[in-house]
Amino acid sequence: MVKKAIIPAAGYGTRGLPITKVIPKEMFPIGLKPAIHYVVEEAIESGIEQILMIVSKRKNIIVDYFDESLELEAFLKRENKQHLIEIVPVPTFPIHYIRQSYAKGLGDAIRLGKAFIGDEPFAVLLPDDIMLSEKEPALKQLIDQFNTYKKTIIGVKEVEKSKLKYYGVISGEEVSKGIFKIDNIVEKPSEHAPSNLAVTGRYIFTPEILSLLDLKKAPAEGELQLTDAIKELLFREECYGKVVNSRRFDIGLHGDYVKLINEFSRINAKRKY
Ligand code: G1P
Repeated sequence: MVKKAIIPAAGYGTRGLPITKVIPKEMFPIGLKPAIHYVVEEAIESGIEQILMIVSKRKNIIVDYFDESLELEAFLKRENKQHLIEIVPVPTFPIHYIRQSYAKGLGDAIRLGKAFIGDEPFAVLLPDDIMLSEKEPALKQLIDQFNTYKKTIIGVKEVEKSKLKYYGVISGEEVSKGIFKIDNIVEKPSEHAPSNLAVTGRYIFTPEILSLLDLKKAPAEGELQLTDAIKELLFREECYGKVVNSRRFDIGLHGDYVKLINEFSRINAKRKY
C-alpha cells in the first residue's frame, strides 16, 4: 500500500523569475487556491495519508498556508462568517516538513525523505505539474498500477518534440496498453531524445531509490538529479512508465500556466484536481 508521499518544493524556480524571487511558483494562484493546494488534494484523493514537503528557507509561505490560523478563525467567527472557515485549508493530517539548506537538486531533496519513508513504497508529486483528470487522479492511476506490478512506476505523457528538452524522457517496450518497461531515461535531452514520452512529475518508487540517492549524494558543485538514481535503479529492478490519463500543465512554463488559468475560469474552481 502506498500511503506516504514526498512533495519537493525547494527549487529556486528560476524559469519564473522575477516573480519567483518573492512568490514561490508552488504558490502561483489558480482560481483562488495556490498550485500546491491542488497537488495536496490529488495526493489525499489518491489515498495518501502522510505527506512530507521538502522546502527551503524561502518557502515559509507554504508552511504558513497549510497551518491552522487561530486568529483568522476567531475573526471569521466574530464576524459571523463561519462558512468561510471551511475553505481555509487545513489538511486532515499534519504535513511534515524538512528544509533543504542548499539547492542541490531534485535527487538531493528526495534523499532527505529517507527517515520519513523508511522501508516502504512511496509517491513523489512535483508541485509544478498540475494534472487535471476526468476520472481518477493521476497519482491514483499510478498507485493502481503499482498494486499490480509492485515495481517503480513513473507517470509519463507524450509531448511535442520541441518540449522534450524540459523533461526526463524514457524509452522502453510497451508491455500493455500505455505501460512501458523502461530501458532508458535521459534528463532533459538537448537532442536525440530516446522517445517522446516525458516524465510528468508523478512517481511511485520502491524504497531502493532512497539507498541509491544516499550512495550518490550531491556533488560539491552542482545538483543530484533524481533521473541519475532512476538510471541506476534500472540495473537493479524493473521500472515501468505509465501514460497517465490526465491533462498536464507545467506551471514552470508560462504558456502552460496561462492555459491552466483559462481552463479554471471556464470550469470554475469546483474541480479539485
Ligand atoms: C523534473 C525532473 C524531470 C521531469 C520534470 C517534470 O525536472 O528532473 O525528469 O520530467 O521534473 O516536471 P524540473 O522540472 O525540476 O527541471
